[in-house]
Amino acid sequence: MSEVADTLALATRLARQAGGVQRERYETELSIGTKSAPVDLVTDVDRRCEALIVEALQSERPADAILAEEGSNREDATASWRWVIDPLDGTVNYAHGYPRFCVSIGVEREGVRTVGVVYDPLLDELYHAVRDGGAFLNGRPIRVSSETELGRGLFATGFAYDVHRSLDDNLDHFGRFVKNARAVRRDGSAALDLCYVASGRLDGYWELKLHAWDISAGALLVEEAGGRVSNRQGGPLPADGSSIVSSNGGVHESMLELLAAR
Ligand code: IPD
Ligand code: CA
Ligand code: CA
Repeated sequence: MSEVADTLALATRLARQAGGVQRERYETELSIGTKSAPVDLVTDVDRRCEALIVEALQSERPADAILAEEGSNREDATASWRWVIDPLDGTVNYAHGYPRFCVSIGVEREGVRTVGVVYDPLLDELYHAVRDGGAFLNGRPIRVSSETELGRGLFATGFAYDVHRSLDDNLDHFGRFVKNARAVRRDGSAALDLCYVASGRLDGYWELKLHAWDISAGALLVEEAGGRVSNRQGGPLPADGSSIVSSNGGVHESMLELLAAR
């Protein structure tokens, strides 16, 4: 197998294993703590999923670098491969028993997003993409939608954990989309929102103040499904996820205009 195929196979196996833990523990008693703010939660399942993925990588890919949300990182600027892991995207949903969350694993080669796997364990939906190799849902190719009118589009967004105290809170953008688009959703998992753009369920999704682990896999899914990802001004997507606008391409400029309006 090629190195890329190997990497995809491993990412898929680990996403399914971590998803299995999430499915098993769903709606059971969780140990819940907070991080940057009272609304920024972490559960024992986030930590368990991260440990499972990172321990496997340490034994199977010891030379690779790791960036993982709950902190089990392996920094190595000389490593060719870097795994960017959100062990449980949608923690607030998970903690409330709201059935929308996933595992997100992106893998970069020489700094380029190369493999992306997102697994929704309740729907048993496995999204994967390989650079220049297309995007897939449960093995079937997926494409972005063909909508070009923002007014006929379905969009999603989210709000950062500093929303209670920051004025850069995305609420004005949200209001403008509500007034101009067909409808707007806020469903609590950035990685799944990106996969829904990739599969044409959503026409576009934007959010501010994300992190690399929220977008690494999903951004590749959107690109490989024929869509577009950028920063809020239409420039290259920042690798750290500090802002993301993603779409089918056809509504992208209209999204940027609405985000820039005052
Ligand atoms: C969060 C979710 C949510 C988004 C937040 C993210 P987490 O990730 O993706 O949809 O609005 O900005 O931080 O904390 O559940 O991994
Ligand atoms: Ca996340
Ligand atoms: Ca997370």
